[in-house]
Amino acid sequence: MTRDETVTNPAEPSTTTEQTSTTEQTSGEAPGTFYEAVGGGPTFRRLVDEFYRGVADDPVLRPLYADADLGPAADHLRMFLEQYWGGPTTYSQLRGHPRLRQRHAPFRVGPAERDAWLRQMRRAVESLSLDPSHEATLWEYLERAAMFMVNTLEDA
Ligand code: HEM
Repeated sequence: MTRDETVTNPAEPSTTTEQTSTTEQTSGEAPGTFYEAVGGGPTFRRLVDEFYRGVADDPVLRPLYADADLGPAADHLRMFLEQYWGGPTTYSQLRGHPRLRQRHAPFRVGPAERDAWLRQMRRAVESLSLDPSHEATLWEYLERAAMFMVNTLEDA
């Protein structure tokens, strides 16, 4: 990813090709995508399941979700992350262009929400026990993407 893309929109893929080349830089001789290198679909399912287990009991995050059922939100996040890292493009087939900042605009995402999101995500990432370089790659992306999603600096 170029520096410019990082500043303008760290959360979203521009092309699948770009993701593949990013992966080649970060995963050394491992063939294919980051998605494959970390274990494919089952790994992303574990990540998102664990994240949403935390969200369900999180006093800052839970009120942002209108639905009693967090399942659809979890499916969207999982499909998005799979696509971002070079897996199936189901997210875009079902949801269209990610436009994540726009999709988050209806929700208050201030520093407290960002920190709560990252706290739950950190726990979920650690639960995967990835090798340290994969974990670092994934975490750096998630941190950057969460910063990018902030849409207010006011306290609640
Ligand atoms: C920074 C704190 C964040 C908060 C508080 C937050 C909160 C939310 C909420 C409330 C929804 C709507 C869920 C629903 O009811 O359907 C949502 C959707 C979503 N979020 Fe976040 N989010 C955050 C960061 C992120 C980040 C960093 C990513 C990506 C790396 C992400 C990816 C998504 C996706 C893919 C959806 C579904 C979009 C769709 O409708 O297709 N979120 N988020």
